[in-house]
Parts: sequence; C-alpha cells; structure tokens
Amino acid sequence: MLTAHKNFSLKKYNTFGVDVSADQFFDATSVDELKEALLVAKDRELLILGGGSNLLFTSNFRGVVIHPNIQEIRIAEEDKDSVLLKVGAGVEWDSLVEYTVNHNLGGLQNLSLIPGSVGASPVQNIGAYGVEVKDCIEKVEGILISNLAAITLTNSECKFGYRDSIFKNRLKGKVVVTHVYYRLTKKHKFITHYGNLDVEVAKFGDRTIQNIRKAVIDIRNYKLPDPEELPNAGSFFKNPIVSTKLIEFLQQKFQQVPFYPVSGSEVKLPAGWLIEQAGWKGRKVGNVGVHKNQALVLVNYGNATGHEILSLAHDIQRSVKQTFGVELEMEVNLVSVENK
Ligand code: EPU
Repeated sequence: MLTAHKNFSLKKYNTFGVDVSADQFFDATSVDELKEALLVAKDRELLILGGGSNLLFTSNFRGVVIHPNIQEIRIAEEDKDSVLLKVGAGVEWDSLVEYTVNHNLGGLQNLSLIPGSVGASPVQNIGAYGVEVKDCIEKVEGILISNLAAITLTNSECKFGYRDSIFKNRLKGKVVVTHVYYRLTKKHKFITHYGNLDVEVAKFGDRTIQNIRKAVIDIRNYKLPDPEELPNAGSFFKNPIVSTKLIEFLQQKFQQVPFYPVSGSEVKLPAGWLIEQAGWKGRKVGNVGVHKNQALVLVNYGNATGHEILSLAHDIQRSVKQTFGVELEMEVNLVSVENK
C-alpha cells in the first residue's frame, strides 16, 4: 500500500546529507504505486528522487517527492552471445553491477561502485574508466507525468552525450524512468586503457570482468570518499570541453596541462586538475571542503547547509575562471522549492 509521509526528512535520501524536508514523500515500489503517487502530485511541485547522489538541496522542498523503488532484475532475452536484463529503477546501481559480474555478464564492470540508482543511470549517462552506461543500454521504459502513459525509448532516442541525455533536455521533468534494459555480453570485451587501470587489474591476475571490478573498486576507494563516511555527490563539476586553441594558449603558461581529444577542434580538460592548480585541493572552509584525493569532489564535514556547499562551488568557479579563463559547469542538480 502506498503511504504518504508528511514533513519527511530527506537527509538519508541525498548523499550530501543535507537536512531538508519534503511536504510529502512517497516510496513507490511498483508502476501502479508510481502512477498513484503521480496523481497525488498533480499540479504540485514534484521531485523524482532516485539515489540522491547527484543533487544538492538548497532549501526544504515545498511539494511532493517520489522515490521510484521498483526492485526487479530479470532476464528479458538470452542468446548464445548476450543477455538482455530488465532492471527496475529502484535497484541500487552497484548491486546491479555486482549481480552482473557474479553471473559473468559483461559490460558494466568499469562502472563499479558508482553511487545511485538504476533509474538515474540513463538520465545522466553515468560513466567511468573509459565506459559510459549508454554503451550497454538497449532501451528505457518510463511513465509520462502528464497523462501517466507508458513510454519506451530506444538507445538512439535517448540522445546520450557526456553526462547527458534527452531526460535532462527535451524530456526534463516529463518522464519517470521505471525500467532500464541492459544488453550484456557472455564473451567479454575488456576496456582497461583508462589511466592506470591496466596495471591495477594485473595486480589481481588475468583480465576478467571480476578483476576489472576489483581494480575499479580499489581505485575508487582510494580516490573518492565514501558518502556514508564523508557525505558528497561524486564529481561536483563536469570536465569542461574547450577549443584546442585555448589549450595551446594555456600550454604557454602551464606546460603540463592534461587533456583528452574530443574532436579535431575540441578537447576535454580535467576539472580536477584546474581546481587543484587553482589551490583548492584539500581545502576546508567551515563545514565544507574540497576532497584531498580528488579535487572534483566537494564534501560535507557535518551539518553543512546546501547554501554553504553552493557558496564554495561558486568560489571555485570564480577562481578557475580567473586563473584559466575556463567556465566550470556543475554536474550536480540544484534543487530548491521554498514557500511561495
Ligand atoms: N586530476 C588532478 N587533480 C585532481 C583530480 C584529477 O590533477 O584532484 C587530473 C589528473 O590529470 C588525472 C585526471 O584529472 O589524471 C583524471 O582524473 P580522474 O581519473 O580521477 O578522473 P576525472 O576526470 O577527474 C571522471 C569522472 C568521474 C569518474 C572518473 C574515472 C567526470 C565529471 N568525472 O573524473 O566520475 O569516476 O573520471 O573515469 O567526468 C562522477 O561523475 O561523480 C565521477 C566520480
């Protein structure tokens, strides 16, 4: 039965651990419950909240929060080379990766230990260590908020880009993802060219999807703080895509500037490097700070408000702009619906 929770604390539902409340909160464990909750939310402010690992609340949420919590992992199709897994939006992302690796199904292993839920994976096209989830997604099922109709989008209809998809653009605020279908391999392709992943995998033995998972978990545990211990939302900023001309200019002053080609005229700059060079890595400002091992990650040292975190983010943006002339775009979504 669907229960409405009034004045519900969202502290446990955002990995930044910001203590804000929602007027009404629903935990929807099936498509029918989701529709029921959407009916209650009609004409009110609505937030669909997955794992809460990529957002920052800057105020209480004066409206309805729905947590899609459909728990299902099922084989939809299988042939000699691959399996199509149908997965509910509420499944925790890393439990899915663990499940696939334990069943020797390949494709998601490089995306081990990313916080969040299955439902959010296509929205921001999560990526790490040379792989993006779009490489495995076959289709996405959802509910249209306007009329509660079922909708299915194929991979190309999702218009995936770097940390981007149709769900952040044309369909923003219009669809709730209910299920994602992942096409996974039985004969695996190993992608280990990113950074020193190859070397880390070799420490565990042969190149297998199981060893890739172990290596990725090791690297992430070293570099990235566990939100349970030090609340954070992973990369706070996107890696900016800039022109090769700007790189040539920057190289005159900063010979070591790292970058990765995107096209003939554009490259991706690691925002972590920019923030570190601007002097922010490991810095603590009141209740908030920049992580000591990965400058892209902002952390909450305890009881920080969303505004404190946001204010640090703005200071970093200004400082990077001043030092390098580069605009940093936030990767986390800001959420604020105050009393009107
Ligand atoms: N770097 C620094 N200082 C830092 C951090 C990074 O100089 O403090 C430079 C180094 O040159 C390093 C390079 O940046 O070689 C790349 O660093 P890293 O491998 O840690 O990756 P990233 O570009 O900083 C991206 C994703 C991460 C993902 C890693 C690994 C974005 C915004 N972030 O970070 O994703 O885990 O690659 O693939 O694209 C997330 O989205 O929440 C996230 C953690």
